[in-house]
Amino acid sequence: MRRLFIACALPPSVVAEFARAFAVTYAGDGPPLSADDIVAGAAGHDALVVTAPTRVDRALIGRLPASLQALATYSVGHDHLDLTAAAEKGLAVFSTPDVLTDACAEAALLLMLGAARRATEAIALLRERRWTGWTPTQLNGWDITGKRLGIVGMGRLGRAIADRARAFRMPIHYHNRSRLPADLEGGATYHPSLDALLAAAQVLVLACPGGEATRGLLNRERIARLPPGAIVVNIGRGSVVVDADLADALDSGHVAAAGLDVFDGEPALYPRYYTLPTLFMLPHIGSATLETRNAMGRLLAEGLEAFWSGGAPVNRLV
Ligand code: DGY
Repeated sequence: MRRLFIACALPPSVVAEFARAFAVTYAGDGPPLSADDIVAGAAGHDALVVTAPTRVDRALIGRLPASLQALATYSVGHDHLDLTAAAEKGLAVFSTPDVLTDACAEAALLLMLGAARRATEAIALLRERRWTGWTPTQLNGWDITGKRLGIVGMGRLGRAIADRARAFRMPIHYHNRSRLPADLEGGATYHPSLDALLAAAQVLVLACPGGEATRGLLNRERIARLPPGAIVVNIGRGSVVVDADLADALDSGHVAAAGLDVFDGEPALYPRYYTLPTLFMLPHIGSATLETRNAMGRLLAEGLEAFWSGGAPVNRLV
């Protein structure tokens, strides 16, 4: 049996899924392991399983034991892995594409609605026992129905968000490196330039990957291009947003409300975020449904099994 070192907390059903196919060493439910603990724990194993908060950079990859043939990330995002260094070391790398698309798209709609309907203030009003009764002046937010939706990153996730937004009669606009074929575009309007998309987006959703190519993409200059009163949602990676610039725009009202599930440097948050009333925040729970967690485990287990039986796993990155 192949030996797996699981260096991150996983739901018990997922650990059990791995244990059906592999001899598993599970590091347990504690905080992410240090690089030293990962190196020590992975000794004598064939594969290492990590997830998004664990940075597997060139230095760590260089120290991994020679027995290791595969690196599996329990996430669709892989900006925490140095794929080039992994390939150079001869490691096959796996992730969990597709299976968390629906859950993350649902969370994006939650962020849109939570921001537009001022959920942060509404929940606080109730929980702090300050609600004195219904009035027509209380917590009026904004419709999303019929508003132009601008999606940055029209991959699987962006398209799943668009599918759901059509039910709100939102005209879909998007920006991608290249235009999608008509069957995937589904009638959406393509903007070759990000600036043109921003000018159109009454609701802006960032659904693009993290990494150096998108770092700081939504900065002061780009926020200024949004229509006044726009709503901003980030379901991709925190590094895409310049926090101080978004906070200033929320303060001024140029951005009426925002919904964020991901944060640069999480779990530490940009301090002003804690107090902005029109900011609706979730602690990176985009993919956090039981169905999705199980499907992610199944996909990784199947990918590793296919790899070791000479197949071509769909979830292999390098
Ligand atoms: C993912 O799978 O990339 C989620 O965002 C968790 O990091």
